[in-house]
Amino acid sequence: SVKIVTIGGGSSYTPELIEGFIKRYDELPVRELWLVDIEEGKHKLEIVGNLAKRMVKKAGIPMKIYMTLDRQEALKDADFVTTQFRVGQLDAREKDELIPLKYGVIGQETNGPGGMFKALRTIPVIFDIIKDCEKLCPNAWIISFTNPSGINAEAVFRHTGWKKFIGLCNGPVNMIKDIEHILNVQDNDELDVKIGGINHMIYALDITLNGENANRKLIDTMIDQGNSESLKNIVDIPWSKEFLNSYGYLGIGYLRYYLQKQQMLEHCQEDAAKGQCRAQVVKKVEKELFEKYKDENLDVKPKELEQRGGAYYSDAACNLISSLYNDKGDIQVVDTLNKGAISNMPDDVVVEVSCKITKDGPVPIPVGELPLQTVGLIHQLKAFEILTTNVALSGNYDDALVAMTINPLVQSEITAKKILDEMLETHKKYLPQF
Ligand code: NAD
Ligand code: G6P
Ligand code: MN
Ligand code: MN
Repeated sequence: SVKIVTIGGGSSYTPELIEGFIKRYDELPVRELWLVDIEEGKHKLEIVGNLAKRMVKKAGIPMKIYMTLDRQEALKDADFVTTQFRVGQLDAREKDELIPLKYGVIGQETNGPGGMFKALRTIPVIFDIIKDCEKLCPNAWIISFTNPSGINAEAVFRHTGWKKFIGLCNGPVNMIKDIEHILNVQDNDELDVKIGGINHMIYALDITLNGENANRKLIDTMIDQGNSESLKNIVDIPWSKEFLNSYGYLGIGYLRYYLQKQQMLEHCQEDAAKGQCRAQVVKKVEKELFEKYKDENLDVKPKELEQRGGAYYSDAACNLISSLYNDKGDIQVVDTLNKGAISNMPDDVVVEVSCKITKDGPVPIPVGELPLQTVGLIHQLKAFEILTTNVALSGNYDDALVAMTINPLVQSEITAKKILDEMLETHKKYLPQF
């Protein structure tokens, strides 16, 4: 039987996970699920934990739900540790999004300057969790959904000795669902999609439908039918037919922040002027969700959770855990060391790539080269990520200035310094390394 510990258990996403474990109980008998949070999240933990108990009861499975603020108590002999926490709560995210905007830069809380500070706040906590795991559950897999998922994974592989760590994003599952929809894939069709890149900068590199390459068909259909974004947190500015035609690859929606930078910036500014940056919208959605969760008659995952960007999180997380547990050998997209899978990326950096999932972990599948039109941006972002992981450890100001400056959304030393200084001051409570 399986013991799972979820760090950040008070997240509104927890019902996603519960639903996923309930659905898969026959193949993945989770007997204990420990939801761990901190004092600030105690209120949310109680509400969502009680909903989890009602969901499990309704499903009639013998899964025990524990709620605790004591991480070490929870971690003892865990088989899988999942993370979904947010250091500094949504207030910190709001600052990540709004401070850069004051200086004319998109904040982007996962891979922009906002993401850099989210990483600087988060990585020290991840390292503490790993230290606990080394003592209390040295054989556990850590499945980490906490953003910035790719940078956190890079930090773990680069700066700790812990090997059983997998970064996770719901983006790839959404991308495959989008492809199924665009190509009108039916149940008896066979679709195989090879995905590669880094977290929040992935591409559908190779699409095979019933034995035939369907890359061009996908792009042509997107040109004919219009193209749109399924991740709910990203505004939907369509690509032009001319651009799509020649670019030739479906990328994740986050690509818009770079290749439609001016329009995305204007959109972020308009939203901010209305008090509707994404963090502010999410605060409201979350409030409504927790009002729903409190209802003692509710015993399933409510539909309203679909307004969050993390849709299909449970499919990503629970399928991954089940495949590790059952040694399935199926293909899933996760964040792990490249090891040659993407031939024009270094072997020892974390990439987000199609992998075979075995009991010994993800084995990246060779996907060849990233095409020229995509590779520069990915290398630039990866360099920014690596420098950010170094700063997360050292707290070195000069290195932080370089990392901030080379972020593709910043690209100005003077602007970088202004953003950096204000963010260091604003977030200092959560930056033990500085
Ligand atoms: P949230 O603001 O609801 O935070 C979740 C919980 O984490 C809160 O209850 C909070 O109290 C708790 N927390 C904060 N610091 C903690 C700590 N040190 N230890 C334990 N718990 C702590 O966040 P959310 O909107 O539910 O998102 C959770 C995380 O998942 C975020 O990091 C978010 O970026 C990430 N996320 C990732 C993806 C992905 O694709 N990987 C998708 C959506 C969300
Ligand atoms: C996306 C991404 C996540 C991201 C999230 C934001 O789909 O994959 O990594 O952080 O959704 O969603 P939110 O609802 O919090 O804005
Ligand atoms: Mn993600
Ligand atoms: Mn908007």
